Amino acid sequence: MSQDSKSSETKSSVAAGEVKSSDLQIARASEKPAPGSLIMSGMRSTHHLHIGNFHGALKQWLDLQKDYRGFYGVMNWHAMTSRYKEPHEVQRFAREIFAEWIAWGLDHEKNVIFIQSEVPEHIELNMFFMMLTPMSWLERVPTWKDAEEDAKATDTHNLGRFMYPVLQAADIAIYRGTHVPIGQDQIPHLELSREIIRRFNFLYGGNLPEPKPIFSETPTLMGSDGRKMSKSYNNAFNLTQEPDEVSKTLRLMPTDPARVRRNDPGEPTKCAVYSFHKLYSKAEDLTWVESGCRSAGIGCGDCKKKLGENIEAQMAGPRVKKRELLENPAQLDQLIEDGCMRARKEARRQLEAVKEWTGIGISYDYP
Ligand code: TRP
Ligand code: SF4
Repeated sequence: MSQDSKSSETKSSVAAGEVKSSDLQIARASEKPAPGSLIMSGMRSTHHLHIGNFHGALKQWLDLQKDYRGFYGVMNWHAMTSRYKEPHEVQRFAREIFAEWIAWGLDHEKNVIFIQSEVPEHIELNMFFMMLTPMSWLERVPTWKDAEEDAKATDTHNLGRFMYPVLQAADIAIYRGTHVPIGQDQIPHLELSREIIRRFNFLYGGNLPEPKPIFSETPTLMGSDGRKMSKSYNNAFNLTQEPDEVSKTLRLMPTDPARVRRNDPGEPTKCAVYSFHKLYSKAEDLTWVESGCRSAGIGCGDCKKKLGENIEAQMAGPRVKKRELLENPAQLDQLIEDGCMRARKEARRQLEAVKEWTGIGISYDYP
């Protein structure tokens, strides 16, 4: 979900389903938010959601919503930093992702779910943040610094992309977000958000909370070709798919190379298929895979078939719900409008405080 930089794609040589020990330490370090904390998070609308987005973010939001209220934004401005040539695509994905979140159970009444561009207050706060952020802070951000050649080659070495983390800070601060569930790849962005917000408070006597990260203990997922799953490798599993698409991807997925023939034993921990079983299958199926693979009691075809069934068991409900929303644009529009209005209400309130602290801007009653 980071800006798909070369560095973040290649640095991971973690085996399927494993979590780096350094990641775990950070994950353990993030304590449970106090009652009343406000969760803020989002995803860019650059592509279809893939299952990495679910296990790395959405799943955690679903957990968090049991105890906390949250603001969840489809970040279409952030998507535009890299896909500005295809605004229609960005908008199509924005609607789709909104529907998909709801289909998977993100509660639109308990939380506020919105689309970033519909809440212009983000951009206004972003203007304040842009003034007080030194260029050198942004130049240090890995998604900018390490991806420069890549960005030039793809026509995305632009100002919008440079200030990406500044807008992200505004996304969080405009709702007074206290906790931000993010993937490990977002750590530098969140650190910068904290610095920007701290400097804002220092300069203007504001009291915007410095947001804390909540890390997910997400395994690095392997894509259908055995490399790290990434939208830019085109090897990602879409989060919501038809069963025949799932089986097709599974058929192509490499298995433990030791299992050349059906009766060669294998080692599941060396196999991408097993890493997906760990996400989708219950304990008894995991045991079945482990012993069956090691003893050559099952074939890879059997193993993949079982995985396909278990994936389908989780995907079927959300797939129906998502289709229902996308096929009823009026219903979806209503949900989007409602979410965005509620987001704006909150954001305006906050912007009033910002105007008071800074003295810039006139407060008036909005129609
Ligand atoms: N940069 C985030 C990502 O790529 C998306 C994002 C934009 C975000 N604004 C945010 C995440 C605010 C959390 C909070 O995943
Ligand atoms: Fe992988 Fe399953 Fe085949 Fe073992 S049996 S190698 S876990 S697909």
